[in-house]
Amino acid sequence: MASSFGAAQVLVASNRGPVSYEVREDGSLHAKRGGGGLVSGLSAIGPDAGALWVCSALGDGDREAVRRGVGEDGVRMLDVPADVHADAYNGIANSVLWFVHHMLYQTPLEPVFDAEFRRQWASYEAYNRAFAEALAEEAAEGAVAIVQDYHLTLVPGMLRELRPDLRIGHFSHTPWAPVDYFRLLPDDIAEQVLRGMLGADRLGFLTRRWADAFTACCDAVVGGLGGTEIGVHGLGADGDFLRKRSHEADVEERMAELRAEIGEGRRTIVRVDRTELSKNIVRGLLAYRELLAGRPEWRERVVHVAFAYPSRQDLAVYREYTAEVERVANAVNEEFGTPGWTPVVLNLKDDFARSLAAYRLADVALVNPVRDGMNLVAKEVPVVSDQGCALVLSREAGAYEELGADAVVVNPYDVVGTADALHAALGLPAGERAERSERLAAAGTALPPARWFLEQLDALRG
Ligand code: G6P
Repeated sequence: MASSFGAAQVLVASNRGPVSYEVREDGSLHAKRGGGGLVSGLSAIGPDAGALWVCSALGDGDREAVRRGVGEDGVRMLDVPADVHADAYNGIANSVLWFVHHMLYQTPLEPVFDAEFRRQWASYEAYNRAFAEALAEEAAEGAVAIVQDYHLTLVPGMLRELRPDLRIGHFSHTPWAPVDYFRLLPDDIAEQVLRGMLGADRLGFLTRRWADAFTACCDAVVGGLGGTEIGVHGLGADGDFLRKRSHEADVEERMAELRAEIGEGRRTIVRVDRTELSKNIVRGLLAYRELLAGRPEWRERVVHVAFAYPSRQDLAVYREYTAEVERVANAVNEEFGTPGWTPVVLNLKDDFARSLAAYRLADVALVNPVRDGMNLVAKEVPVVSDQGCALVLSREAGAYEELGADAVVVNPYDVVGTADALHAALGLPAGERAERSERLAAAGTALPPARWFLEQLDALRG
């Protein structure tokens, strides 16, 4: 019996994996490695632990790598047909489940669950099945498999049927919708999502608030959690890595560049996000505009350095949002800029070293999402900032539970309130700012990624 099982003792499954491939002009494949909690987690259990990461081939480069049999030890990339992936990822995961959990619909017109939605849902099921089958094939008897996020909600239930011997976990990196909002989903789909997840032995969430929302949905839709356990694991920043990485030469170089762009003696308000609808970048810019309009004493004395990396650009609504971010940033610069002062420095290109340079220079970090599972930027900037920074933080970010006490807290929809908060944060006395920043950094690094992962592993193994 055991001989038909695979060899992996610890498996993780996620849509986006730790490596991606690009086809170079000469036809060669170039591998790009990513970071994040799971990467640190799996490296913490050591190379001989029989760990396997099952992920999806995402672009042409990844598909080519699978076709050529190029890959990394410990990673299995699934090449599901591109149209199935597009339906599951763009159609269902990012346009439906992400919208539900972040409450992003403009409800007079959206959502409309029509025949096209049902067609895409069938792809989402097929996509989830491909993961469940790969995990079932690779897992050793009694192994632990931890499935990640809203892309793969059906996997735990499917895997349970294929391999009842496994210990199965699922972790949500997003918020969870309140019951009334979750029930926008067609009843049978809402039920399928919850039953899929409840196939796990244990479900993890980033905060108590999201865990409670999930429990409430289960009570309302499927009559409770069954035997499934719920755990809260508030992923923190990787302090050791960040402190070291932010003092490397490329970051120092970019600090010099940024300092020149900001100008002598000015305060810096920093934000770093994907260009993501839930991050609320536009209202952040409007609040900054309100600060300059309502409190002219800050003109020429402050610069807003805003990073908005391209994200999910296959979706029209993300492309439009990116264009709106650019439009509003330009409008603020036109309205208030002077020959020696550019009020907003907008960065649309993904440049990790430059964002770390901005972290180091930050006087104020602006983190104002309309809803966010955690938000690691809020935890990272206080660790890295050279002078200690003030944090303007949305009460709708998961990080609020841990950082709220030392942040200047905002309602993310209240642009005037956010302008007031920016003013208060800029005006914090240096001593108080440094003390708060130190406490924020301590709270934000309390559960570094490796421990976050090991905690879940231990809990699953009992
Ligand atoms: C969120 C999700 C992740 C996702 C990331 C980037 O943090 O929880 O699962 O990987 O966004 O989004 P993307 O669509 O580019 O993978």
